[in-house]
Amino acid sequence: HKSEFGLFGLGVMGKSLSRNLAKKGFKISIFNRELKGTEENVAINFKHEFQELSSALPFNNIESFVNSLEVPRKIMLMVNAGKITDMVIKDLMPFLSAGDILIDGGNSNYNETKERFDYLKSKGIHFVGAGVSGGEEGALNGPSIMPGGDKESYKAVHPFLEAIAAKDENGLPCCTYIGTEGSGHFVKMVHNGIEYVEMQLLAEVFTMLQALGNNPDQIADILESWKAHSNSYLLEITIDILRKKEGDDWLVNKIMDKAGNKGTGNWTTIATAQLGVPSTMIASALFARYSSFYKEERIVASGNFQSNESSKFDVTNDEILKVYQFGRLINHYQGFKLIDEASKSYKWDLNLSELSRIWTNGCIIKSDLMVELVTVFKSTNNMLTNEHIIQQIKKSKPAVKKVVSQCVLNDLPIPTLSESVNFLNNFAIAKSSANLIQAQRDYFGAHTFQRLDDDSGKFYHSTWK
Ligand code: 6PG
Repeated sequence: HKSEFGLFGLGVMGKSLSRNLAKKGFKISIFNRELKGTEENVAINFKHEFQELSSALPFNNIESFVNSLEVPRKIMLMVNAGKITDMVIKDLMPFLSAGDILIDGGNSNYNETKERFDYLKSKGIHFVGAGVSGGEEGALNGPSIMPGGDKESYKAVHPFLEAIAAKDENGLPCCTYIGTEGSGHFVKMVHNGIEYVEMQLLAEVFTMLQALGNNPDQIADILESWKAHSNSYLLEITIDILRKKEGDDWLVNKIMDKAGNKGTGNWTTIATAQLGVPSTMIASALFARYSSFYKEERIVASGNFQSNESSKFDVTNDEILKVYQFGRLINHYQGFKLIDEASKSYKWDLNLSELSRIWTNGCIIKSDLMVELVTVFKSTNNMLTNEHIIQQIKKSKPAVKKVVSQCVLNDLPIPTLSESVNFLNNFAIAKSSANLIQAQRDYFGAHTFQRLDDDSGKFYHSTWK
């Protein structure tokens, strides 16, 4: 008899998801193409490695894989985002029938997801663009899943996706219908943008705690004590990382200081710029990674610009914690703001509370703060109007002022943290300096301006000379 669900692509994520599906009792077919130059049948070998896959059907031939599935077929693609995804869809097409459903579980660009959605719709095939977060372990034991597409196709695949997803504190699946077209992948992309910032904030905390003379174990101890106030998955893994020794040194000290990326932070920064939303911390965290990559030039610059002034780095661990919490609040504000604005522009009707709920477990940015946001977003989409958050920000502001200036005085790089305070200073201001920008635009380009003393919205032009 036929399988209920097909998993196409047995990379790290595909393998873990198939084991997860099989453990939940689903009858699945798994496919991987033969590796070039080997006779190895990846799917058969993989099936034999794990007991839970004993009734899974393994394939290296696309036609037989597709024919092994019940109609309408449900096939989840776990392949590299970009061209490979299109190639795979092209290879599958001849064997699919109208009504079949493809789920793309890769980190695909949301614009491409919309194009694939429209193309496949014209062929009668349903397409679900699903963000999947949680890495290898999440995929195996319960990821957070963000599926977008039409509601009808979600109805057909939700029993599978919700069964394998992580569960929130009330036992509900960390998987929910997001919205149409590329909304699932858009939301996953912003998840990654928020992730970039959370990681960069911890790296800046690491910089500061090192400057205070702590070794990685001592920093891990300090971060351990922060769990009670500000716990998150990324904080926990950072503690593990800092404790890892190799010989008599810490492994982290031996790792090349050039940060890689696979593009999602870049897309988030493009999206925030295109939509006119100031998610400045995501851009800053992305550019911090890019700067790190210029290792050779950084070495030269560090020689050329070495500072001779010495000043005592006079901050406490508690002040650093406050700054960290402040940065995280602004980061989450900016990330959710981007989602909210995209939702309005694309008419996706996204529910921020539900989104934060599916991010309370399974994903990389799960945290105590995320749990708090589920409630916050029930009454507003703007975190900065929530009374409790306002109080938290106000309480940490004195420490933020002090720590950021101390870092500047001591030549310590904290690009993303200082961005958070500059953002707020530039945003929590009733009258900005943009009046001067408007005057300059009008001066050289006759771009016109509105006047504060005329609320009709009329545009004026002045002869400036
Ligand atoms: C997740 C991660 C995952 C992956 C990213 C990392 O949610 O599980 O975000 O999708 O680790 O690709 O992105 P970079 O390689 O760009 O850091």
